[in-house]
Amino acid sequence: MTNDSLRRAAADLFPGGVNSPVRSYRSVGGDPIPIVRGQGPFVFDAEGTRYIDCVGGFGPAILGHAHPAVVEAIAAAAAEGLAFGALGPREIGLAESIRAATGLERLRFLNSGTEATMTAIRIARAATGRDLVVKFDGCYHGHSDGLLVRAGSGVATLGMSDSAGVPQAVAGLTAVLPYNDPSALLRWFEAHPDDTAAVIVESIPANVGILAPDPEFLQALQSLARARGALLIADEIITGFRFRRGLSGVLPSADLVTLGKIIGGGLPIGAIGGPARLLGLLAPEGPVYQAGTFSANPAVMAAGIATLEQLTPAAYQRLEQVSRHLENGLLTAIKRAEVPASVVRYGSMLSLFFRSAPPRDYAEAREADTAAFARFHRAMRQRGVLVPPSQFETWFISLAHNEPEIDAIVRAAAEALREAVPG
Ligand SMILES: Cc1ncc(COP(=O)(O)O)c(C=O)c1O
Repeated sequence: MTNDSLRRAAADLFPGGVNSPVRSYRSVGGDPIPIVRGQGPFVFDAEGTRYIDCVGGFGPAILGHAHPAVVEAIAAAAAEGLAFGALGPREIGLAESIRAATGLERLRFLNSGTEATMTAIRIARAATGRDLVVKFDGCYHGHSDGLLVRAGSGVATLGMSDSAGVPQAVAGLTAVLPYNDPSALLRWFEAHPDDTAAVIVESIPANVGILAPDPEFLQALQSLARARGALLIADEIITGFRFRRGLSGVLPSADLVTLGKIIGGGLPIGAIGGPARLLGLLAPEGPVYQAGTFSANPAVMAAGIATLEQLTPAAYQRLEQVSRHLENGLLTAIKRAEVPASVVRYGSMLSLFFRSAPPRDYAEAREADTAAFARFHRAMRQRGVLVPPSQFETWFISLAHNEPEIDAIVRAAAEALREAVPG
């Protein structure tokens, strides 16, 4: 088994040779690296080459790869049988620890973040009797039809389909507004005072690289949604349990919260949390239909419980220290290399933008030099460091990353920056 033989087989079997687009490496050029194994902060390709991993499975791998407690928990669950289509004890265990950490009164487990946001919107529409949804340019909430929408052209605020196959009739129910712009939100609500079911937002946007939320924008989000009777949905699929044991704390008055990634310990998961009044709208208690053969699957629940058990306050402190060390190292490397680049970090998630100042919104993020990022990615890869294969994907640091790995990333970056932007 070589990297090439796997890539060839995959190219024949799967559209674009992958089962999720960013894995194709199309935005950085070069061949995708098939990963056969991970251990702690490292991943290994089919030929045994070891990389320090900064992808973190795009979010879930906060403990690093193959943590023994998670592996054991999954094995124990598997040994007892995997699919009963029935209530079981592990879903109660995971829900109780999430509730204790977040204060979310009630939860529903689903199988992906996409399902969580899609269903949260369905609940909001049922609760309000309204149809329209507001999202923000550059925020990603999964691939359901109503959320694969981009900003309309010119003065149009109602969205346009952002994928073939999404009917305009569906896309047109979603408005796409600029992020960090309270006045655009105010204008929206002035024009549509009584027909917005939900405003959905990533608590800290991390799908166009990281955008730092302005406090006034967060304030406007919460007060305007409430004043106009729209539900605020905080998408914490990346940010939940990423910075502390619980929610990010960025949108304390959100009506509904979506979770995913970390709470599944590396296995597929999504969750919706909120007050009994709203979660009680879900079937079989209420009229909003949602169901899943694999929902709250015992192995997923076991991996989630084992992961959350490791996430103590001390663990987050260590993660913060290590991540700060990485940020400082990268900033020094950027300064020394004299390249137009910037770093944005929240806890253990980080973006290195090939743009001299951190972007405030999607339009600014798009100004980043993606060709320079592609060169940077290649140069890092050649030095044994795997960063996400897109300028717009966030780096994730784990509890398995120690100082030697961070120092190695910084050393690699110091050279790779010079290759990315030759003087
Ligand atoms: C903020 C956010 N919401 C939703 C999703 C969709 O989650 P999933 O890929 O599990 O469907 C993602 C995935 O990256 C995400 O980052």
